[in-house]
Amino acid sequence: MTRKLLVTGGAGFIGSNFVRYIQNVSPETQITNLDLLTYAGSLENLRDLPVPQNHHFVHADIRDQSQVENLLRQNQIDTIVHFAAESHVDRSLQGPSAFIQTNIDGTFLLLEAARKVWLEEKAVDSTIIRFHHISTDEVYGTLAPEDPAFEETTPYAPNSPYAASKASSDHLVRSYNHSFGLPVTISNCSNNYGPYQFPEKLIPLMILNALTGRPLPIYGDGMQIRDWLYVEDHCEAIWTIIEKGRDGESYNIGGENQPPNIEIVKTICQILDEKGLQNRPHEQLITYVQDRPGHDRRYAMNINKIHNELGWQPKHDLAQGLRDTVDWYIENTDWLNAIIKEKDYQQWVQINYQQRGNA
Ligand code: NAD
Ligand code: TYD
Repeated sequence: MTRKLLVTGGAGFIGSNFVRYIQNVSPETQITNLDLLTYAGSLENLRDLPVPQNHHFVHADIRDQSQVENLLRQNQIDTIVHFAAESHVDRSLQGPSAFIQTNIDGTFLLLEAARKVWLEEKAVDSTIIRFHHISTDEVYGTLAPEDPAFEETTPYAPNSPYAASKASSDHLVRSYNHSFGLPVTISNCSNNYGPYQFPEKLIPLMILNALTGRPLPIYGDGMQIRDWLYVEDHCEAIWTIIEKGRDGESYNIGGENQPPNIEIVKTICQILDEKGLQNRPHEQLITYVQDRPGHDRRYAMNINKIHNELGWQPKHDLAQGLRDTVDWYIENTDWLNAIIKEKDYQQWVQINYQQRGNA
């Protein structure tokens, strides 16, 4: 049976990659894509889709419950894939309010719409209804160097307003399963990278700054560790969970590699040096700046559950994934230039980096 998807936040980084992924692996799938087009979302991310006739974009807010209910009924949606969120830790430190509104209130209102249309009205005739919630490893807090990787049973200990808002939404999703019997799955994923990532996050920011000869701002000592996953692998994991995951379960997703930030940045510099671009050696642009307040030191994901139960594991290694990502940004300078010309982007760079100075 072919699913009818409502993808929220499908004009953002991972959501747009997910739409493209689904259109490649399951072209007949009907996708309704609901996105508010905040600073992080753009229709440019959805250009040249493989099967445009099976993708229907709706410019709306996940908090507009009646509009979501109408979409569920009219398009006979049986599967919600919920990406929409405020997603940047540094922005949550500058202004947490939007994170509470979208990540917590928004998820709550989306759950309410699903409960009403699917469970109360039974307006969708389907045995496969599913609310899949996209979450993050950051809900588990931070690890010391020798700590074992996060498991699905690791207690939640979110440290930033972003992580706390995602943790809160995870709990709401879980409770709708437990209390109302709404069929749900949750995935907690590590840091993604790849095409269409907004250049406020580490990897695209470093590529952009290196290409344009600007400083490469390393927070603190640069020895913080993230678990990096190529975005297409994340999309495949989500689809695997939707198709085969057990109702009410959470699944950790990660790339099984944990280099310190400084190593990621130096690798990007080397890739650009090899291409013979200007500003060589790019490492001369590295600038240590004031650390992020409350900066989580280390994340690492134990992915045994999704591997053993559902047979998923990452396909891309970090070295090749970084090369492909650098190539994508070089080939898509128009996409990048359109973003950096935006007033909002320039303001963000000013707010986040102007005050930091050198460490
Ligand atoms: P993103 O910031 O690139 O995109 C978010 C999208 O949500 C944008 O298109 C935006 O317009 C939309 N949006 C925001 N508020 C909305 C609202 N109220 N109504 C409708 N749409 C709204 O984010 P991303 O990096 O693609 O992350 C997607 C999801 O994956 C998020 O839930 C995030 O917490 C989670 N996640 C991200 C990562 C990562 O490394 N980027 C890792 C793990 C989990
Ligand atoms: P980021 O991409 O913002 O993701 P997250 O905070 O969700 O992990 O940051 C990844 C790591 O890179 C994190 O340890 C913070 C660090 N970082 C910098 O050192 N400099 C920067 O300019 C940015 C944006 C991040």
